[in-house]
Amino acid sequence: MLHTQAISATDKPTLYAELAQQARGLFVGERNLIANAANFSALIYHALPQLNWAGFYLFDGTELVVGPFQGKPACIRIALGRGVCGTAAQQRQTQLVRDVSTHPNHIYCDAASQSEIVVPLIHADGSLLGVWDVDSPVTDRFDDDDRTGMEALCAVFMETLRA
Ligand code: SME
Repeated sequence: MLHTQAISATDKPTLYAELAQQARGLFVGERNLIANAANFSALIYHALPQLNWAGFYLFDGTELVVGPFQGKPACIRIALGRGVCGTAAQQRQTQLVRDVSTHPNHIYCDAASQSEIVVPLIHADGSLLGVWDVDSPVTDRFDDDDRTGMEALCAVFMETLRA
């Protein structure tokens, strides 16, 4: 049976290292994008405290379309350059928004969201797969350790597509 273990780490770098190890375990022998994206969302959403949404927006060649996620139903389509997700996709840089109320471009899918982090997902050939988006109901929930940790987790996820 597929299962994950309780995360025991209290400091963020160790926590993210444990999560990366669990993610690798979930992906062993499986390259299916939707399956791995769904399990990745569930792993992170349930392992990290103070999240209200964790999931993917996938690029369909024109815009971002919501993919596997955990949390409440979300906005379906986001144009490149719009919102925090569209900005991350267009600039190809992680966006760390400590307080969405001060971000001019934030799209409210869930009014509960107060802070968020969005990591662009780029294929080995340089093309855009989409973005990984994590939202919190707590202002200032994410810091540079979360940015580093989320980018490392996304790298583990992208590896599964190449294996
Ligand atoms: N807040 C995001 C939209 C996606 S949801 O939060 C799930 C944004 O500004 O791009």
